[in-house]
This record gives sequence, C-alpha cells and structure tokens, in this order.
Amino acid sequence: MLNRRNFLTAAVGVAATAGLAACAKEDGGPSDSSSGGSKAITLGFAQTGSESGWRTANTDSVKAAAPEAGINLKFSDAQGKPENQISAIRSYIAQGVDVIAFSPLVVKGWDAVLKEAKAKNIPVVLTDRSIETSDDSLYVTLVGSDFTDEGRRAAKILEKVLEKAGHKGKVKIAQLEGTTGAAPAIERAKGFKEVMDAEHKDDWEIVASQSGDFTRAGGKQVMQAFLQSNPDINVLYAHNDDMGLGAIQAIEAAGKKPGKDILIVTVDGVKDGFAAMAEGKINAIIECNPLLGPQLMEVVKKVKNGEKVDRWVKTKESDFMQDQAKAELPNRKY
Ligand code: AHR
Repeated sequence: MLNRRNFLTAAVGVAATAGLAACAKEDGGPSDSSSGGSKAITLGFAQTGSESGWRTANTDSVKAAAPEAGINLKFSDAQGKPENQISAIRSYIAQGVDVIAFSPLVVKGWDAVLKEAKAKNIPVVLTDRSIETSDDSLYVTLVGSDFTDEGRRAAKILEKVLEKAGHKGKVKIAQLEGTTGAAPAIERAKGFKEVMDAEHKDDWEIVASQSGDFTRAGGKQVMQAFLQSNPDINVLYAHNDDMGLGAIQAIEAAGKKPGKDILIVTVDGVKDGFAAMAEGKINAIIECNPLLGPQLMEVVKKVKNGEKVDRWVKTKESDFMQDQAKAELPNRKY
C-alpha cells in the first residue's frame, strides 16, 4: 500500500500546455465536464481506443461518471497506438492535471512517462489493465478485473459446456487472443492454460492460437485461417465477445454451426455477445465489467485527498451459460 499523502502535498507542477501528437484525439478544455466549481478535480484520462463493444461501454461509463462526481474530465483516445497514449499522458502532465488515469494498451513501456508524472507529483491510477514496471511507486492503484481468473473461469466453464454438449474425444481448441502484449491477452491465456495443464493435459489441446486484436474484423480473419489450417477444431476460446462474433461469421461461411459443430466460450458479456448466445451461437460467456466509471471517480477523489486506497480495486463479475442468455439479455447494461 502506498502512502499518497506525502506524494500529494507537494505542489502540483503547472507547466505550459503541450499539444497532443497529431493523431491522438483529445476532448476537454473549454467543454470540460466539471460541475462548475473552481476547486473541481481535473482528471486526465488516456483511453486505448474503440476496438470493441466493451471499450465503447467503458468510455461511456467514464464520461458519464465524471460530471456526476463533479470531476473535470480531459479525455483522449489513443486509437490503438501506445505512442498516442504516451503523448496524451505527457500532455496531461504539461497541463498540470490533478490525477492521470489510463488503460494501458500493452503492459510494457510506461516507466519513462510515469516517472515524468511522478516528478511533477501527479498521481497515476491504472484502469482496466495493468502494467509491468520496475518501480511500483509509479502508479497508485489499479481499478479493474482479474484477467487471469477470467482465463481460469473460461476453462472451468468449458468443462460444463463440453458436458452439456455430450462431447466425447479430443478437445481441439482454437484460441483468439487479444492485442499482443496487452494484460488481458497475456493473463486470459495464462489462466486458461493453467487449468488446462493441471486438469486436462491428456484430452485438451490448443491447436491454433493467434491475436485478433480484440476486434470483430480480426476475429473473423484469423478464424478463417484457423479453419483452413485446422478443419477439425471443435472449440473456440475467444478473449472477447467481438472476436467471437467475427469468428461466428467465418464459421458460418465455412458451412459449420457455431455453438454446435464448434463450441464457443468468450469473455466480456456485451449485449451483442448475449444476443448471439441467446441464438445458440455462443455456449458460455465470462463477464468482464466495463462500467468502471463510478468506481474510478471514487478512487480518483480518494487519491487526490491523500486517502489510502487498495493497490488493486477488483471488479465483481459473473459467468453465464447459454441457457441463461434469454432471461439475462434484457438486463444487460452494456
Ligand atoms: O481490457 C479489457 C478488454 O479490452 C476487453 O475484454 C476487450 O473487449 C477490450 O477491448
């Protein structure tokens, strides 16, 4: 646990405003979402991009929660490029925001810019994704899911899916990985493999595994290639719903039935994923909750006030089998 008080009582450096790199998109400034008071906290938030339904819901949640919490939000969209996220963070440092939050596109490469934030006494909150760093003092806390556990839960629910389908014989798994080097891609693969190696070494095999970059188009394209190189795939584990939805198109185009010929487990639980599950095309979904905005604003306020926060504020999530999809679909909030 870090004591933020010392860190925060030092003067927040106010430097000249620097422009973002040409391709990063920033909202904020004159149309900031503050409640009007001059003492509102200013939060600089550097988003990954808009690669998936999950991400859109996450952005909406952050943008809605800031004004509700009386926080002045400066928002930027890195459009899938870590260098844009770094530029956005640098711009927030130069603008002297009170707190910086970001959802790191990949785990590596943040130490230099986070040291710059630390030098200006601007605390950093990670949201959604974690980083690998040689210096744990470079961020205060992570608000987000346990992706390794999501991977384990995906493997455990696959056991139920196989049983329900009456599957006999070898389980030949295709894995659609998320963005290469991103925490959810690394950890969802790790958790799944952990259970597979411990409990299913003899009967389960990952016969194909490649990144679909968390996008629908990526999922479709990679699944097309998988089906050509491994026509006997009988399970798909996709690291998010969007890639699973793209893969469903490829499976149908190959004349196979998603959810029957190829059993499908995905992660996220966005409405489109649930709709596909209600149609019988996805067999189970591991929920990953994107509605982090309110929790993030609470943490930002505590951090700014020098209050102690947990090093990892975990998100609560559930797992869903196909037979729950129809009843659950109207309740989905994202
Ligand atoms: O980091 C969370 C992941 O990022 C979601 O599972 C995926 O859909 C998103 O793009």
